[in-house]
Amino acid sequence: MSFEYISGSLHWDNTDLSGLTENIAQLLKEKYAYTGAYYLYNTDIFLQRASLFEKYFPDDYFYYSVKSLSNIHFLSHLSHKEQFGTDVVSSGEMVRAARAGFQGERIVFAGVGKTAAEIQLGIDMQIHSFHVESLAEIRLIGQISSDIQKNARISLRINPDVHVDTHKHITTGKEENKFGLALKEIPAALDLIKSFSHVSLVGIQSHIGSQILDHQPYLNTLGKLTPIAKEIEKTGFPLEYISLGGGFGIDYKQNPYSKKIPEEFSLETLSNGLHAFRPLPWKLYFEPGRFISAPSGVLITNVTYKKDKNGFSIAITDAGMGDLMRPALYGAVHPIFPVREKHQISKVDIAGPICESTDYFSRQTESPELSEGDRLAILHAGAYGATMGSIYNTRPLIPEVAFDHTGTISVIRRPQTLDELLTLEMQ
Ligand SMILES: Cc1ncc(COP(=O)(O)O)c(C=O)c1O
Repeated sequence: MSFEYISGSLHWDNTDLSGLTENIAQLLKEKYAYTGAYYLYNTDIFLQRASLFEKYFPDDYFYYSVKSLSNIHFLSHLSHKEQFGTDVVSSGEMVRAARAGFQGERIVFAGVGKTAAEIQLGIDMQIHSFHVESLAEIRLIGQISSDIQKNARISLRINPDVHVDTHKHITTGKEENKFGLALKEIPAALDLIKSFSHVSLVGIQSHIGSQILDHQPYLNTLGKLTPIAKEIEKTGFPLEYISLGGGFGIDYKQNPYSKKIPEEFSLETLSNGLHAFRPLPWKLYFEPGRFISAPSGVLITNVTYKKDKNGFSIAITDAGMGDLMRPALYGAVHPIFPVREKHQISKVDIAGPICESTDYFSRQTESPELSEGDRLAILHAGAYGATMGSIYNTRPLIPEVAFDHTGTISVIRRPQTLDELLTLEMQ
């Protein structure tokens, strides 16, 4: 997973992006009369990243976080890996996972606001487990499962109150966050579960945040969850698993000129640290998303206009915050580079076309000098990119294209047409 300029052309691992994006531009134009921005994924990288979990945790299981990159192309590749299941957060994702080849038993369902209809669907699909986040949710699952006389497997999402060094918008495991059950709610949760005939408690889970680079918070979390699991078992609930959630961070700073080894989460260090806990009497699960998907995708966009200001310029791109929301939503920084190398450096803001003052991809940074018509790659955009896409400003969803080492280029989501977008409103 590296970017470098070779003979003036941006290469992603060994793939020449200026040649590849030229071919894709032609293909999209001929097939869909489309000339705008698109997500470009490297399927090999996605699968290599998934394999790292198999390598470092050969006895454990991985429930891939579908919301990070949910295209069926990737889910169906993952469905062939035995240690992988999916972690979903809506009935839409549940159906998506099923269509990609995941049977219910390989799906766990997270989220603070599962509706009655979603719970019913999960029970009907016999999913592996609902990761429950409140006493009220246990009550609703309990009622629905007794009404339809079908079993519901649940796990408690426990808020371990561990400190994690990451962006405040993506911490989840602190007492003040909306996610999970507080430690003091566990006894009430167990009593409630006992009162329902068709609910079985099968595990406990914690997800402490995202973009975490240090392995220690995971060990701290397991250190907290292990005695809790033992206490729960003493009250008559044998557990099958502990899930440590996702959150494994990547190096968003990596760019064609950085010569450093990526400073990302080390699965190897976590794997070594976990030896102190093994053998565990329960299965161990992880729910990786970004670590697998972020490095697998870039957003390809074109400079439509350039505005010269006093001492800097603004390049306006054809992609906007509706296509990649992370910079506007969290202040996330993605390296942005032209597919054809530019040597002159200047101060350039890169902004989208959307009518919002936060529609910027980068601000006041040193960047290669850009000109109208330049094609840019916004790096490490595979996670929480396409999946957060919006049609704000009545801009249809942009296409997703994947390639692999065989040279195959697949349009894995065609561009949405304006007619498709408007049809819901046309009676
Ligand atoms: C419960 C749960 N599991 C897994 C993930 C995946 O996180 P990441 O993509 O950072 O690995 C999330 C993301 O927010 C989550 O909420």
